Amino acid sequence: MTKPLIIANWKCNPTTLQEARRLFSTLEKSFKEIKNKNVEIVICPPFVYLPELRKQKSNLKLGAQNCFWKKKGAFTGEISFLMLKDLGCQYVILGHSERRRYFQETDEMINRKMRAVLSVKLKPILCIGETENERKKRSTQKILKSQIEKGLREITEKDINQVIIAYEPIWAIGTGKACLPEEAEKAAIFIRKIISKIYSQKITKRIPILYGGSVNSQNTLNYAAKSNLQGFLVGGASLYPREFIQIIKNVSRA
Ligand code: PGA
Repeated sequence: MTKPLIIANWKCNPTTLQEARRLFSTLEKSFKEIKNKNVEIVICPPFVYLPELRKQKSNLKLGAQNCFWKKKGAFTGEISFLMLKDLGCQYVILGHSERRRYFQETDEMINRKMRAVLSVKLKPILCIGETENERKKRSTQKILKSQIEKGLREITEKDINQVIIAYEPIWAIGTGKACLPEEAEKAAIFIRKIISKIYSQKITKRIPILYGGSVNSQNTLNYAAKSNLQGFLVGGASLYPREFIQIIKNVSRA
């Protein structure tokens, strides 16, 4: 298995470049001071901060929170996957529930984005997860299966190696109600089972499955001990350097 992955999703924060620089520098400095760190950290800031943060030579990798599937052209307001590649991004979060909900992204659009980023060797982090209502109706597995199958449509055995899956139950995002570690583990096992029906066992085993949804320094240790989870997608807590660094320390120690 590769190193555990911790991905910071800054979402639409902070509001100034100065704050973004400060947050990144603080994280970078504290990260350097951690001994025996056996983790890979990816920071996903808003697009506009990427060029500037890239200048701060760092051990932290950079990712984006979305992208467009066309290379270029008359698509007002979009940022293409090629532009992200050029900016030194290595990862792209795709299909986040906030994109699905507020910007009407469908599984088909997400799949196009997946294929586009893979074509230039960017690593997509495919976010999947059920709503509170779907969970109550016990349709979690049905939703996960559908989102995986549609999201990974036409992705080859060769490219699937680059894909990361993030299980993010929507009811747990930004609510402080993190999913029970056992429940996240169960979802991860199910996700791997679905993927193994499409790809070979050897490759399926290597695909990192992350958990996301109200992750903080208090609850990370419980998840980190679960063998089917290979890291976290962290929203709110990634904006607080002390919190985020503690999460990294917890995962390094686990
Ligand atoms: P949260 O967000 O950690 O603030 O719950 C997670 C996410 O949206 O990826």
